[in-house]
Amino acid sequence: MKGVIRRRNHFCPTLLLFILFSFHASRFAFSADTLLATQSLTTNQTLLSSSQVFELGFFASGNSKNWYLGIWYKDIPSRTYVWVANRDTPLTNSSGILKISNQTIVLLDEGNNLIWSSNQTKASNPVMQLLDTGNLVLREANESNQYLWQSFDYPTDTLLPDMKLGWDLNKGLDRYISSWRSTDDPATGDFSFKLEYRGFPEIFLWNDEQKEYRSGPWNGQRFSGVPEMKPTDNLSFDFVTNKDEVFYSFHISTKSLYSRLTVTSSGQLERYTWIPDTQVWNSFWYAPKDQCDNFMECGPYGICDSNASPVCECMRGFQPKNPQAWNLRDGSDGCVRKTDLQCMSDKFLRLKNMKLPESSTSSVDIKMSLKDCELLCLRNCSCTAYANSNISNGGTGCVIWVNELSDMRQYAEGGQDLYVRLAASDIGNDRNVGALIIGIAVGIAVLLLGLGCCFIYKRKKLLSVCKEERAIQERSQDLLLNEVVISSKRDYSAEKDKDELELPSFDFVTISTATHNFSDEKMLGQGGFGRVYKGRLVEGQEVAVKRLSKTSGQGIEEFKNEVRLIARLQHRNLVRLLGCCIEMDEKMLIYEYMENRSLDSVLFNKAKSSLLNWPRRFNIICGIARGLLYLHQDSRFRIIHRDLKASNILLDGEWNPKISDFGMARIFGGDQTEASTRRVVGTYGYMSPEYAMDGVFSMKSDVFSFGVLVLEIVSGNKNRGFYHSNSELNLLGHAWRLWKEGKGLDLLDTSVGNSFSSSEVLRCLQVGLLCVQERAEDRPTMASVVLMLSSETATMPQPKTPGYCLGRNPFETDSSSGKNDESFTVNQVTVTMLDAR
Ligand SMILES: *[C@@H]1O[C@H](CO)[C@@H](O)[C@H](O)[C@H]1NC(C)=O
Ligand SMILES: *[C@@H]1O[C@H](CO)[C@@H](O)[C@H](O)[C@H]1NC(C)=O
Ligand SMILES: *[C@@H]1O[C@H](CO)[C@@H](O)[C@H](O)[C@H]1NC(C)=O
Ligand SMILES: *[C@@H]1O[C@H](CO)[C@@H](O)[C@H](O)[C@H]1NC(C)=O
Ligand SMILES: *[C@@H]1O[C@H](CO)[C@@H](O)[C@H](O)[C@H]1NC(C)=O
Ligand SMILES: *[C@@H]1O[C@H](CO)[C@@H](O)[C@H](O)[C@H]1NC(C)=O
Ligand SMILES: *[C@@H]1O[C@H](CO)[C@@H](O)[C@H](O)[C@H]1NC(C)=O
Ligand SMILES: *[C@@H]1O[C@H](CO)[C@@H](O)[C@H](O)[C@H]1NC(C)=O
Repeated sequence: MKGVIRRRNHFCPTLLLFILFSFHASRFAFSADTLLATQSLTTNQTLLSSSQVFELGFFASGNSKNWYLGIWYKDIPSRTYVWVANRDTPLTNSSGILKISNQTIVLLDEGNNLIWSSNQTKASNPVMQLLDTGNLVLREANESNQYLWQSFDYPTDTLLPDMKLGWDLNKGLDRYISSWRSTDDPATGDFSFKLEYRGFPEIFLWNDEQKEYRSGPWNGQRFSGVPEMKPTDNLSFDFVTNKDEVFYSFHISTKSLYSRLTVTSSGQLERYTWIPDTQVWNSFWYAPKDQCDNFMECGPYGICDSNASPVCECMRGFQPKNPQAWNLRDGSDGCVRKTDLQCMSDKFLRLKNMKLPESSTSSVDIKMSLKDCELLCLRNCSCTAYANSNISNGGTGCVIWVNELSDMRQYAEGGQDLYVRLAASDIGNDRNVGALIIGIAVGIAVLLLGLGCCFIYKRKKLLSVCKEERAIQERSQDLLLNEVVISSKRDYSAEKDKDELELPSFDFVTISTATHNFSDEKMLGQGGFGRVYKGRLVEGQEVAVKRLSKTSGQGIEEFKNEVRLIARLQHRNLVRLLGCCIEMDEKMLIYEYMENRSLDSVLFNKAKSSLLNWPRRFNIICGIARGLLYLHQDSRFRIIHRDLKASNILLDGEWNPKISDFGMARIFGGDQTEASTRRVVGTYGYMSPEYAMDGVFSMKSDVFSFGVLVLEIVSGNKNRGFYHSNSELNLLGHAWRLWKEGKGLDLLDTSVGNSFSSSEVLRCLQVGLLCVQERAEDRPTMASVVLMLSSETATMPQPKTPGYCLGRNPFETDSSSGKNDESFTVNQVTVTMLDAR
């Protein structure tokens, strides 16, 4: 080629054109999209789809010497590969040849060894073509719409528009996507997203042999486990089930819109759309999203609700199978029936807004009405639940389950009704019946015994209230410091004698009156422990009443001991326990009432967040720090909170923060500083890397959570679910980047307004970043945090890379952000470990 150029040296203007052309030509030997049986493609040559959307060619990935044949978007600068032919059989150097041989697409190395091939076909005059959809096809030269082989049938890690994820039942072809081994190694990784066509079809995310997440079955409009899934003008979804095929696919309205569904090497499903203006892939949707998306988080018959704490709940008529683990917030053993089924006399409990249970063994009849469905289920004694199979048009079709119900979750909105079979005696509708029976009983009692029985009646009624209540709750309790007693080697009884701190004991009637008989209007919230009511004592004092469920099986003396322990924790930044009530089977805790509820209800609420001006935010940060310091050092015990998060910070009328919920707290003996646990419990987004990975917790894991909280308070954003349009970083990574770029103030929540002290904001940011550092040893103690926050002059070290600074996707990040190998590995391992539970 050089020779040619020299010879034409004197034709200057033409020369330039020619050089341009010839260089161009050397790279794009086939500006065409089609390769004939007589042609071949080698390194430096590519096929271009007709509208130049996709390009096929050879590439090397990462720093490895391996070469691959792949397809990528032509105009996206940082290459995004959507398909790789020889992912598990790389070329060892750049010399490869792609051609058609023996009616097959073959990839050969320099020595003509077969590296990869498509399937054998019977074509008479085959050609290979790269379509604008990103599909590489082998077809007869004269048949443009029938493909003898297509890359869409053998996906790599990416589902493109119009590609099918699922089964061709006649050919036994299972199309699924599986992750790259790492971000720059296309080899088949551990994670795959595969459709299960048996029963009521749904798609599972697998980690090797283990199910990680499932989409839930298609309910006619969307996947049952993806309530947020809605078609838009530009994006629509399809789910086809018939005797030949079962598949999922999606479609886009305009070719210029790029959208892809990928399973990343860290085991996350991500739907990305390309934003041409900013030249980035926007993460449009991802899963798993929260703890409840983890497969079988709450075991058989357990229901996961990510808004509750703890997240697992047994449905009515069921109780934890393993109460001890359940109380330690390990719900994976699930729940068992209280009363065995009786078959024909059983009833159905309607659960609303549900993600349907795992359904590979369920059976579907798309014509049957809900009423017939109920009958079908009732008649078949092994049927455990039923539901509509299609929620369109007010619900049609019937699906029944005959096995244990598992992996259910409840949504605030967007789920569907599920009818679960229960022994008639466990059905809570009996409330009215129960009341009627009691009414009759009382009537008879009154008739028989006259007024003298009033007292008994009253007791009975109270008892019945408790029973109903329990029937509804059936959950573990978190506030009882079971764990504290279990894990603590200290003996409180000795101290008890020394300074008895008697806690007022309220009687049941007082509390019942204060809360208008535990009326629904007075209910403030509901959690794993039971319910919380707002009450007003006769003296006018407002209180919050936590009514605990009975499942702990704990004796009265133990409960009292524990309550005394909590009562001893007195600090202005801890929620104060005013007293308790132990009567009959009831155990209640009475707290001071917090006017402004919890921090998360204000901070993450667009309408309210402006109430938190900077002085208030700073005061909240300092207050939490002092409360935590007290727990760690200044109280007579050394207490690790283990579940510090925005929803556990309550705010009083003056916006003073108070730490609450000691349900997961652990007490450490004198010189103990670290402990570990088999199962990691806590809240995503706040857990330190060493705790999430190895179950090791220490005061430094609280410090990490505190750091996350500080960054959330400054930015007004949740760490979990944070997305910043220009990067793949989570809140921690984003904050760190801004800090490094000297733009720390950009992190500040805009609802704070213009009056703030820059030095305070930056100090908080720096403290927050110091607290979330990867290595526990690097993080400051709460004592130094309090010092740093309160002193303008305190010297502070420079923060290092935060733990998990790449959010859900350690893919394609910029240079600065945690590209160091250590944190990168940690990120991946963390995700894997968490999700592997
Ligand atoms: C491909 O191009 C690069 C430079 O663009 C060159 O070094 C290399 O030799 C070429 N390889 C082949 C096989 O042509
Ligand atoms: C072509 O493929 C068929 C089937 O795999 C095989 O039997 C035959 O030997 C191949 N022919 C050549 C020339 O490779
Ligand atoms: C490339 O790899 C092939 C097969 O391993 C080998 O035969 C060939 O010599 C290599 N070429 C170069 C330039 O290293
Ligand atoms: C087609 O080729 C793939 C590998 O590319 C192989 O896994 C599959 O079994 C082949 N299918 C048939 C029907 O030969
Ligand atoms: C394509 O060509 C083959 C033989 O070359 C012929 O049998 C077939 O009918 C042709 N198909 C069409 C659609 O022309
Ligand atoms: C669900 O019902 C709607 C309306 O009856 C119907 O159009 C749709 O095809 C159904 N979907 C499935 C998957 O059966
Ligand atoms: C959807 O497409 C329309 C035009 O077809 C465009 O105006 C709109 O911005 C697109 N929306 C998104 C979210 O890309
Ligand atoms: C109950 O339903 C299941 C699933 O349809 C079926 O396999 C089983 O045979 C039925 N049992 C009876 C007793 O009808």
